[in-house]
Amino acid sequence: MRDQVISSFIKNFKDTPLLVFAPGRINLIGEHTDYQEGFVFPSAITQGIWMGIKKNNLDSLCRLYSLDFDQELSFDLQHLSPKKGHWATYIMGICAQLKQSGYPVEGFDLALGGNIPIGAGLSSSAAISVATALAISEAFHFQVPKKNLVLYAQKAEQLFAGVNCGIMDPYASAFGKAHHALLLDCRSQTHQEIPVEFPGYALLLTHSKVSHSLADSAYNARRAACEESIFLLKDLFPNAHTLRDLSHKDLEVIQGVLPKTLYPKAKHVISECARVHEAAEALRTGNVKGFGDMLYASHQSLSNDFEVSCPELDYLVEQARTYGSVLGSRMMGGGFGGCTLSIVRQEALEDLCTHLEKMYTKKFQLVPDFIQVEMGSGASQV
Ligand code: GLA
Repeated sequence: MRDQVISSFIKNFKDTPLLVFAPGRINLIGEHTDYQEGFVFPSAITQGIWMGIKKNNLDSLCRLYSLDFDQELSFDLQHLSPKKGHWATYIMGICAQLKQSGYPVEGFDLALGGNIPIGAGLSSSAAISVATALAISEAFHFQVPKKNLVLYAQKAEQLFAGVNCGIMDPYASAFGKAHHALLLDCRSQTHQEIPVEFPGYALLLTHSKVSHSLADSAYNARRAACEESIFLLKDLFPNAHTLRDLSHKDLEVIQGVLPKTLYPKAKHVISECARVHEAAEALRTGNVKGFGDMLYASHQSLSNDFEVSCPELDYLVEQARTYGSVLGSRMMGGGFGGCTLSIVRQEALEDLCTHLEKMYTKKFQLVPDFIQVEMGSGASQV
């Protein structure tokens, strides 16, 4: 893909580009906690977006080419507005963020291509945003600090794609490290790199092929529900700024205050933050079985309490659980479709995929995709 991006840049713009790479991400555990300033445990993957860029000296005209869509698009930096649902919206969103922060962005040519399955919940959009911010920073010698690349990517997604997302996806794409996951504190926006080894096991994603048209609004609604809970709890817990500040011992009191619709959602965020720490500890001590159990517990909580799963994801997790040879399995990412993540004994991998495909196709008339992933490095010039 790297070479294809370079040659399509040369073909389209008659020049050689500067090249950057930004990866997609998986999340081992810690779902729907980032926007409550909680804890998450993501990792960059080896699949990602390659992007070639060069200043074009055409004032404020930017010319883009996407290999994946075989599409060209031009826009003017003076007139940036969201193009929701379009791959270029993230690129424009990043330009808007850089300009707003005072960086003198001028016209550029850009070509991009990637190998992240779209719609699977592997954050191809965060990868495009991080790649764009890094590419512009390098091409114009802006030296934007890495943390700011992440914040611009998050804002671009919020303002130009309409998803009120947290920081996890661009953070993992920017800071990822091969064979490591990032134990990320979304309040302090700092992380610890934790070595991840599951000897004899593989990380398997099963793409349900379900994509919910209302997923974005449901995501925003979940975030709003968490904010409402904190508002209702402010008299009893004046020091709790987000659900991250509460713990298991508070649950009984919280249950007495929150309405029935909100309590389980608050409980999910509180218990999921605790699980992230327990899971990281399990890895540190080599307790892979304990780690796997936490994945199942996370799924139960996301499905029953936070209500962001769907029958297809629940079925895939249940099938993986009862098959044997699987340490743990859960839905991954925002939910309402996308992927499950499973930790599967290497020698059972093929048979499990055959089994899942047979059962799932029969039940839902959908053929799942299987993607084996490895933990890769974060964004960089290549
Ligand atoms: C999406 C968002 C992230 C995070 C996850 C759920 O991937 O972009 O910020 O909230 O959902 O954990």
